[in-house]
Amino acid sequence: MAILRGIQERYRFLPPTVLQRLAELTSIPPSRIEGVATFYPGFRSSPAGLHRVHVCVGTACYVKGADRILDAFRSELGLEGGQDTDRDGTFTVESTACLGCCMLAPVVRMDEVTVGHVEPHQVPALLASALEGTPSGGDEGSGPSVSDHGGASIRLCTCTSCRASGAMEVRAEIQRELRVGAVDVPLRSSACPGVSYRAPIVDVVPRPGESFRYAGVTAADVSQILLRHFPSTRPAAQARRLLSVAVQRLMDNRAEPPAPLDAASAPDCAFWKRQVRIVTEDTGTGPLDLDGYAAAGGFQALEKCRSSLEPGEVVRVVRESGLRGRGGAGYPTGRKWGEVRDRAGGSKSVVCNADEGDPGAFMDRLVLESFPFRVIEGMAIAAYAVGAGRCLFYIRSEYPLAVRRISRALEACRDRGVLRAGGPGAGPGVSPTFEVVEGAGAFVCGEETAMIAAIEGTRGCPRPRPPYPAQAGLEGEPTLVNNVETLAAVPWIIRNGAAAFRAIGTPSSPGTKTFALAGKVRRGGLIEVPMGIPLREVVEEIGGGAQEKRALKAVQIGGPSGGCIPAGLTDIPVDFESLTWAGAMMGSGGMVVLDDTDCMVNVARYFVSFTQRESCGTCTGCRVGTRLMLALLDGLCSGSARDGDVERLEELADVVRRTSLCGLGRSAPNPVLSTLRHFRGEYDEHVRGRCRAGQCRQLIRYVITDACIGCTRCAQRCPSGAVQPRPYERHEIDPVRCVRCGACKAACPSDAVAVIPKGDGRD
Ligand SMILES: Cc1cc2nc3c(=O)[nH]c(=O)nc-3n(C[C@H](O)[C@H](O)[C@H](O)COP(=O)(O)O)c2cc1C
Repeated sequence: MAILRGIQERYRFLPPTVLQRLAELTSIPPSRIEGVATFYPGFRSSPAGLHRVHVCVGTACYVKGADRILDAFRSELGLEGGQDTDRDGTFTVESTACLGCCMLAPVVRMDEVTVGHVEPHQVPALLASALEGTPSGGDEGSGPSVSDHGGASIRLCTCTSCRASGAMEVRAEIQRELRVGAVDVPLRSSACPGVSYRAPIVDVVPRPGESFRYAGVTAADVSQILLRHFPSTRPAAQARRLLSVAVQRLMDNRAEPPAPLDAASAPDCAFWKRQVRIVTEDTGTGPLDLDGYAAAGGFQALEKCRSSLEPGEVVRVVRESGLRGRGGAGYPTGRKWGEVRDRAGGSKSVVCNADEGDPGAFMDRLVLESFPFRVIEGMAIAAYAVGAGRCLFYIRSEYPLAVRRISRALEACRDRGVLRAGGPGAGPGVSPTFEVVEGAGAFVCGEETAMIAAIEGTRGCPRPRPPYPAQAGLEGEPTLVNNVETLAAVPWIIRNGAAAFRAIGTPSSPGTKTFALAGKVRRGGLIEVPMGIPLREVVEEIGGGAQEKRALKAVQIGGPSGGCIPAGLTDIPVDFESLTWAGAMMGSGGMVVLDDTDCMVNVARYFVSFTQRESCGTCTGCRVGTRLMLALLDGLCSGSARDGDVERLEELADVVRRTSLCGLGRSAPNPVLSTLRHFRGEYDEHVRGRCRAGQCRQLIRYVITDACIGCTRCAQRCPSGAVQPRPYERHEIDPVRCVRCGACKAACPSDAVAVIPKGDGRD
């Protein structure tokens, strides 16, 4: 895989002649090379353009109009049919299952730069900025703590989602302002506070014990914020700054300078109040600040294990804590560790599953980018407990910053000898090696046996279990596979004890769980809550409820393996058993809020089209079954369904669930079954050609009402020429030309564009 990645970096695809040469040089059979090259979506068989545009089509982006963004890029570049690259090879436009910035949906990555809240009309400007080569800012040096500066500092998170909200521009402006104003205060990287709906966040610490938090900061705000807290010691510099701030305020026509958040004020207070932070605990140190991590108690748990706990005792503590795997299935972590520990095996491994392929999930990305040392420490403890000599991170390639930060954190640990044996009892697992393996797409590679196949360099297809990886995993040896969040919880458990962990959450689901709260919710971001918290509290109190003027309809939990919980059932507690009872599942923690403008049949179709695309094709149940399910759902969403199709869909879903080889196929019907259970009426309406939410394009039409003020904005935004501009007059939509993309509705300032479902009498 690494060789293929290298070839692709050089040629922007995998040229057949080069693959042939590779086979000759390495004696790897050409069929095997071809097999791997064609399995992973990350590998290309035709050249990519000089610039790559990745349009996220994850759940949150999908419900917020990702297809309109994709259409806008394709139409701007004149791409037709299956083409993904423009004629002169400048741009390649690809849809990506999820970029892990769901709270900023819709999201696009232009080369290295991720941009949030994208609108179709911004597409030409985004393409132009890629041509200009807007700098990505690289990976900022958030490394070792710098000298004291009287305890003053400025802190800013530059994780992927904060970057997508403009954090790098803010960072550049802070650096410039510090330079111009001759202000000697360090700018440090911080862990992400998760408050994505107000990102970027800047924390200003003028002196120890005093802290001011600014939210939603833009580059234009920076000079005023810094002037308030850090006056220049040089009078000339101070005068220059005062003048420039005055001019800027005049130009922005802004009376008030940005104000810091009041710690006790709603709504931000509500976002925090119910959270309990263990995995995402912010100790005030930068992601790559090894000294800061150690000073805040980092690596104490590892040290405690090595110096005073036998490996078996570590397993016992984890077992007693009741920690259950956070990767989806909730398997008891201590039991799994015991199984690996009890196996005889020469070279056991620990694998950190950081594939996070669920569209709508970004917890693992954020933990890896913000708390890399915590995950590394958890892995080192796991290796010690099970006696593993090798630790591997398998990180999806869509998370380049996570790959960089984990790699840099590992380098820092190696340089400082942190992970080498410190205590007595040198034996297997005391000084494990660490490696980072990058994925190449394929959601199925999150399944543990498929992931092991990918690490071994073959096609990432799952195999039947048993044997489980704990019995025979990587290279046939016992292998512990754990999710990022599972491992990140371990240092806290060792430091604070099993009972402290059990004191949080419920008896069957102890501890906390992180969730990626996104979709049609007011306050989206990364949250960590005690297990057992009512779902309503998460959505209403933390998330602030559905967006303005809209009603909460359902919460999609658990991604393609999960399901939709209707608004009426949101009193259920969030734990493994209750979510399964309600027809969803914990999954890895994606939580996408849906409102009354979302069509539940369309949501089910979206997930089945995802699993169908991602099916590795090994077993018939999944390969053929998901295809047939998708055909039925396509029929329902396009108005060509027949009587009995809903019943056929239900039957088929049951067959796919029972006959598939791995969890991908077995859980693929869940979104269908849960929506059938809670929203059956919508399915029946679709058989009659009606979509009450007005989402299914072929079942609706757009009309312009008398509220039209003749501003022509709809005509300017219409991609198909269906609206002619007629200043000051009521506009009209040509139903033949209209592609029902909704661009006119999004552009209308007077809410004059109505969506008319077919069959409501106005047809
Ligand atoms: C299709 C599919 C995708 C999966 N994706 C992930 C993933 O992205 N991350 C993850 O930790 N587990 C994923 N899993 C679950 C893993 O197979 C495995 O159970 C998990 O990594 C074990 O770690 P845990 O015990 O800490 O949860 C997936 C399972 C299936 C069937």
